[in-house]
Amino acid sequence: MSERATSEQAGRGPVRVAVLASGRGTNFGAIVAAAEAGRLGAEVAVLVVDRPAAGAIDIARAHGIVAVVVEAREHPTREAYDKALIALLVERGADLVCLAGFMRVLGPAFVEHFRGRLLNIHPALSPAFPGLHAQRQALAHGVKVAGATVHFVDEGVDTGPIVLQAAVPVAEDDTEDALAARILREEHRIYPEAIALFAARRLRIDGRRVRILPAP
Ligand code: GAR
Repeated sequence: MSERATSEQAGRGPVRVAVLASGRGTNFGAIVAAAEAGRLGAEVAVLVVDRPAAGAIDIARAHGIVAVVVEAREHPTREAYDKALIALLVERGADLVCLAGFMRVLGPAFVEHFRGRLLNIHPALSPAFPGLHAQRQALAHGVKVAGATVHFVDEGVDTGPIVLQAAVPVAEDDTEDALAARILREEHRIYPEAIALFAARRLRIDGRRVRILPAP
């Protein structure tokens, strides 16, 4: 079977979302705001960060969301780190795991465990400009249109099946910061939208394509 239905919940109540972040957490904040406004159809169950200084922790605290720090140095290998992360997310009952500026590459065991329920946001129109500094890469390449992509995670870096994309124009006098800010506004719009589609069971992975099913 090439088709895989996602967001299966077996009648266990609202979809529980875990967000993984490393930095300031504005995407996490947008997801929380959507949940609080009733636009997510899911609850934000936990924030996991790999750095104790991540600004995302303050957002979690302000909104009464459990924040857990899992540092790499507490674990001897990448595999051990990923295993600890899986155990934590299972314990927290995560149905969907959302990477939101999580700057670690997760290994194959993690990806396999959460396949079809692991999302990432990348500040580029994939498959262009994977990896670090996507906005800088876009400017250096001279593209006239840039954007953001929400995708399911596979074993590659920023490569999995695409759920939603949004495009923004590149201005003649753009700086990396100005372009990043323009893209970020779209990130904050499409990430909650993608999660809401998942929670409504409207995403179906069909090979490389993600079908968006009509609203019931
Ligand atoms: C976002 O721009 C996100 O797209 C990017 O990190 C930033 C995190 O910002 N992710 C990647 O580059 C993944 N390859 P935030 O902490 O304010 O959400």
